[in-house]
Amino acid sequence: MAKKIFSGVQPTGNLHLGNYLGAIKNFVELQNEKDNDCIYCVVDLHAITLKQDPKELKNNIRETAATFIASGLNPNESILFNQSLVPAHSEGSWILSCIGRMGWLNRMTQFKEKAGKDKEKASVGLYIYPILMAADIMLYDATHVPVGDDQKQHLELCRDIAQKFNNDYKVNDFLVPPEPLIQKQFSRIMSLKDGLKKMSKSDASDLSRINLKDSNDSIINKIKKAKTDANPIPSNIEELENRPEAENLIGIYSNLKNQNIDVTLKEFGGKNFSEFKNNLSEQLIDKISPIASEINKLLNNSDYLDKILLTGAEKANEIAEKKVKEIKKIIGF
Ligand code: AMP
Ligand code: TRP
Repeated sequence: MAKKIFSGVQPTGNLHLGNYLGAIKNFVELQNEKDNDCIYCVVDLHAITLKQDPKELKNNIRETAATFIASGLNPNESILFNQSLVPAHSEGSWILSCIGRMGWLNRMTQFKEKAGKDKEKASVGLYIYPILMAADIMLYDATHVPVGDDQKQHLELCRDIAQKFNNDYKVNDFLVPPEPLIQKQFSRIMSLKDGLKKMSKSDASDLSRINLKDSNDSIINKIKKAKTDANPIPSNIEELENRPEAENLIGIYSNLKNQNIDVTLKEFGGKNFSEFKNNLSEQLIDKISPIASEINKLLNNSDYLDKILLTGAEKANEIAEKKVKEIKKIIGF
């Protein structure tokens, strides 16, 4: 069945293998499935919930768009744009913030993590971030939202907002509660240094992640230094239990090759990690280096990127503006 897809990625720089395998690769697959309408957004309004340097933000918006395109998103098939170009997102967000309840937001674990110990000093924007996300999604009547599992709670909040709005204003099915699309396998790519920690751009050690712009030498070096354990690679999945680093590397390889973990274990069961790591580096270079060189090429042509984002924003604006108008009418403006 045709799906209406919406998803967003923050332009906070340094996109890595976790972003690619956990999110962007999936965006491309959904785009290439027949009949889906896909909208992918560089969520720059979300980025400023934490302080950003203006010059860097501008570069990061272009870099995220370049990463989308270099990974296979086609601006003629999907709508690609950045959020701040479409005013309906801010407008919709304000209205939905009058529907969402404090009690709901207080349960959001991502806020607790990002705000840290001193919540009093967190921006109000960071607190109501999931409301803006709900507006992003529901302005386009998106039915499905591909995200990593860390965003599941925000999607549940979005569904609660849809239900309350529809009930309060007696407009059955007007706001569409979206379904999360969370990959069952590989929804969390872990750090190369600690199999219990997520691969993240905020990790102090660059050796913990593969950045999409890493050189081939850097990829080889990082995989060589990636943490493993003393045992050889097992032949079945059960034996990967309690071996988080091994499981992560095997998972990354399987994902890159689009094959089941079983198949990978059949290929490498009984072998040691050094041989496997050579193959893993090869796979990574095979998949990542064309993306990296395309990103760099696109970044040298910022006018082209800006034009794509602007054209995408015009298409997005048409849809979102119409929905906001309907919302305003419903609430009595
Ligand atoms: P972020 O950069 O945290 O805003 O994430 C952008 C997208 O990438 C979201 O859909 C995340 O769920 C996904 N993502 C980020 N880090 C990882 C990871 N280590 N493993 C899988 N998905 C991830
Ligand atoms: N909150 C998401 C993240 O941090 C990004 C995001 C913003 C998003 N708006 C969205 C994702 C709408 C999906 C749909 O990864």
